[in-house]
Amino acid sequence: MTTDTSTTDTPGGTPSRETVLDARGVTMRFGGLTAVRGVDLTVNSGEIVGLIGPNGAGKTTFFNCLTGLYVPTEGEVRYRGRVLPPTSFKVTAAGIARTFQNIRLFSNMTVLENVLVGRHTRTKEGFWSAVLRGPGFHRAEAASRERAGELLAFVGLAHKADHLARNLPYGEQRKLEIARALASEPGLLLLDEPTAGMNPQETRATEELVFAIRDQGIAVLVIEHDMRFIFNLCDRVAVLVQGEKLIEGDSATVQGDERVIAAYLGEPFENAPGAEELAEVEAAEAHAGATPTDPAATKENDR
Ligand SMILES: Nc1ncnc2c1ncn2[C@@H]1O[C@H](COP(=O)(O)OP(=O)(O)O)[C@@H](O)[C@H]1O
Ligand SMILES: [Mg+2]
Repeated sequence: MTTDTSTTDTPGGTPSRETVLDARGVTMRFGGLTAVRGVDLTVNSGEIVGLIGPNGAGKTTFFNCLTGLYVPTEGEVRYRGRVLPPTSFKVTAAGIARTFQNIRLFSNMTVLENVLVGRHTRTKEGFWSAVLRGPGFHRAEAASRERAGELLAFVGLAHKADHLARNLPYGEQRKLEIARALASEPGLLLLDEPTAGMNPQETRATEELVFAIRDQGIAVLVIEHDMRFIFNLCDRVAVLVQGEKLIEGDSATVQGDERVIAAYLGEPFENAPGAEELAEVEAAEAHAGATPTDPAATKENDR
């Protein structure tokens, strides 16, 4: 697992903190729509930071601005002091990895192969060599396989290495996405709704996994709707509402903020009894103009 050599834990003291991610004034417009407006956010080494907000608040769009999928209309994103390169491949190579709100795996490849593909920014041979299996690939393969095996063990999927990705249950596909992201040896991991569709046991296991990732020296920024998950896990939480950062603080501060409660926490917890009915009522209200959301469009930019 990657160790962050630039972060030194002083024996018996507090760890020295380094700014890993520094997003300043990030604005993303699509035509007349401003999906993200002037958002500042930092993530320091050793931190787990949460990003919450109602559907359509701009969370995924913000992630896309942090990973080179979008170049922000305004503002700047720095990773370890350097402005982000303009393509997602280069951003991954620089050290930012992510998972997607809608799972993206190579469904007809095995679990192990999916993780190996995730290593393509870290092997000299690169993606096409990995796919085409050229001679260079075979030299690098043994080391890569060993690392991929370690990562599968780390997320609890070692026993499924030879299964096709599409045959994994949903929760395990999410774990595999995390293993694949870790395969690029990131310094910062972005997780977009990692527990969506999981049962409470799987969610709990994911919480432990994220703590373990943090303990390996990888900073984490996580989007999630499950408030118990977020407030258990995160050192800091930022709330986006209609593209703007409403508040940022520790769990207690954010949970207690009246504007957050009004804008978001009034929504039922995921999996809570009656959640679906309440969500329907809220959706109807939103449609009537109480909260502008556009759930259909949120899928479109989920990449
Ligand atoms: N590629 C795009 N083109 C046009 N509008 C977009 C695009 N991506 C996102 N949006 C809009 O930006 C807003 C924020 O969406 P999104 O970032 O997916 O929100 P969240 O992840 O918080 O649910 C939504 O109104 C959505 O319709
Ligand atoms: Mg989203």
